[in-house]
Amino acid sequence: MDDLFPKGFYFGTSTSAYQVEGGNHNDWTEWEKLNASRLAHGSKKYKRLPSWPLVKNDALDPENYISGIAADYWNRFEEDLDLAKGMGTNAYRFSVEWSRVEPEEGKFDIEALDHYRAMISAMRERKLEPFLTVWHFTLPAWLAEEGGARSKDFSKYIARYAGKLAQEFGSDVKFWITLNEPEIFARNSYLFGIWPPQNDNPFAYFKVLKNLVRAHREMHRAIRSETESASIGFSTDPTYFESAGSKWDNWLTAKAKYYWNNWLLDRIIKDLDFIGLNYYFHSRVNLIPNRNLNEKISDMGWELYPRGLEKILEEFAHHEKPIYITENGLADMNDANRGWFIRESLTAVKSAIKKGVDVRGYFHWSLLDNFEWDKGFWPKFGLVEVDRRTLRRTLRPSAEIYKSIIKGE
Ligand code: BGC
Repeated sequence: MDDLFPKGFYFGTSTSAYQVEGGNHNDWTEWEKLNASRLAHGSKKYKRLPSWPLVKNDALDPENYISGIAADYWNRFEEDLDLAKGMGTNAYRFSVEWSRVEPEEGKFDIEALDHYRAMISAMRERKLEPFLTVWHFTLPAWLAEEGGARSKDFSKYIARYAGKLAQEFGSDVKFWITLNEPEIFARNSYLFGIWPPQNDNPFAYFKVLKNLVRAHREMHRAIRSETESASIGFSTDPTYFESAGSKWDNWLTAKAKYYWNNWLLDRIIKDLDFIGLNYYFHSRVNLIPNRNLNEKISDMGWELYPRGLEKILEEFAHHEKPIYITENGLADMNDANRGWFIRESLTAVKSAIKKGVDVRGYFHWSLLDNFEWDKGFWPKFGLVEVDRRTLRRTLRPSAEIYKSIIKGE
């Protein structure tokens, strides 16, 4: 491995259960059925992107929005973990699907738990350190019916589920991520109304944010009481806000940083052993925050700005917690920018480490092409391409680039 990275640095890839496993049934499954046609029609907003001619057939097809068999990772995890190992990675981030483990309130499914146990052993056999995400956006149908994340009992339910996972897997898993991007979930599901349950009510939004803060604290307690040696964090999705320099821009940048990057984090920092950082966005603040698109963009139109990773790492250093980059990636079906992007991102990480930031791992999103929520399958985030029809896996050239960076080349 590259000697500029600290000894024991984790190089990994990341997935989430619902996006790759297939065969799930939860609040999203129900929602997809009702919304597939609408989402297909709405995809026309991407028409102005250069990638549109390549993705439009999929984007306009309602089937694209049905998660279905996804990447069939549930049945193919051994093959997929072989691919992760083949890339030279030494860690792997995955999530457990709550609706599989607790399909009915309070009843845990032994077969599902055993299946996850087999997955974790398969990681260990391949010397991939498991980073387990307890919750990555989806809810069991029974909980959605009871009000989901808005329910006053949400933290109680999710802490019981987290405790059960810790009881089952505590001896095999050291790294625990309680919640994935709670701020994105709250915003998309309860403020913008674009994800289930499609609420757009600021009161509901704040209530859910508070419930998620409480959820993290109680999950932390539940995991810790089962496994003392656990290292417990959560994954957040900060934006690198860059001020254009006027007094107003500086003021607005400070406010944006506070509300978007730190509000939730500040409330749970005491109950964190590490910060999981998902980096995707850069926003130039010039009178207003603006996701400026004048550099390279992804197939989804997101600006590719890997240098921002160094800035956000520096910004987070004052929290004085170890940082793992639990996600960083791009939709790039032709693999035109991914290799460059990984190299630049890891250069940014190295540079932050040299400046003294305690960064201990980097997980690329994603190992596999997967189900990108309300965009369905057309965005291709995988180091490994998954053929939608045959489910055949093919390594993209960027996987080789990642491998050579890990080797220190
Ligand atoms: C989420 C992933 C998602 C990725 C790309 C993150 O916000 O955790 O589930 O696929 O970004 O959009």
